[in-house]
Amino acid sequence: MKFFIDTANVEEIREAAKWGILSGVTTNPSLIAKEGRKLEDVIKEIDEIVDGPISAEVIGLEAEKMIEEAKELVKISDNIVIKIPMTLEGLKAVSYLSKKGIKTNVTLVFSANQALMAARAGATYVSPFVGRLDDIGHDGIALIDEIHQIFAYHGIETEIIAASIRNPLHVTKAAKVGSDIATIPYKVLKQMVKHPLTDIGIEKFLADWEKTQS
Ligand code: E4P
Repeated sequence: MKFFIDTANVEEIREAAKWGILSGVTTNPSLIAKEGRKLEDVIKEIDEIVDGPISAEVIGLEAEKMIEEAKELVKISDNIVIKIPMTLEGLKAVSYLSKKGIKTNVTLVFSANQALMAARAGATYVSPFVGRLDDIGHDGIALIDEIHQIFAYHGIETEIIAASIRNPLHVTKAAKVGSDIATIPYKVLKQMVKHPLTDIGIEKFLADWEKTQS
């Protein structure tokens, strides 16, 4: 399973890129708004840091508007993936863009049928939201498992991005059920590196080493 970072904060991306584990970036309108910057400016800057797919989400709700926005965004770089919400209008836009060779990421996926529809429309990626399903008492990881089984059974090449990841356990579980990618907030990526026994081990090694130095 590959790791994407789910943020529009350029400093977080710059730092995580140095760890050598990043394969791509996802953003969304809330994350861009949090930075208080223009979408195009943020995406351009991210593109200078990461050599991999960068998802930029459209705002329009009608296919025509989505396509118009997509055409502008893809001018930024070949790595741009157009993030489109899972609606009928979204499917129209995905179908059009995929025929033009433009990569898409269908977002706000909460059921296996939505994922299947997006894939059949030509989506490059689908993003089922694990955390938001857990929040309402559903099982987000079970959905990733279900979509993975369906895609494998039918030989569907659309990649699954486990999104709305809230903790390291979500990442492990998404990997176990075969998600292609997990898009992970910076804070969770950092948590994934930590283990108390690693810290204790380092302390002990250093303490033992110090004893021989006196
Ligand atoms: C997906 O690509 C979204 O950007 C994101 O994962 C949403 O996560 P949230 O539910 O924590 O807002």
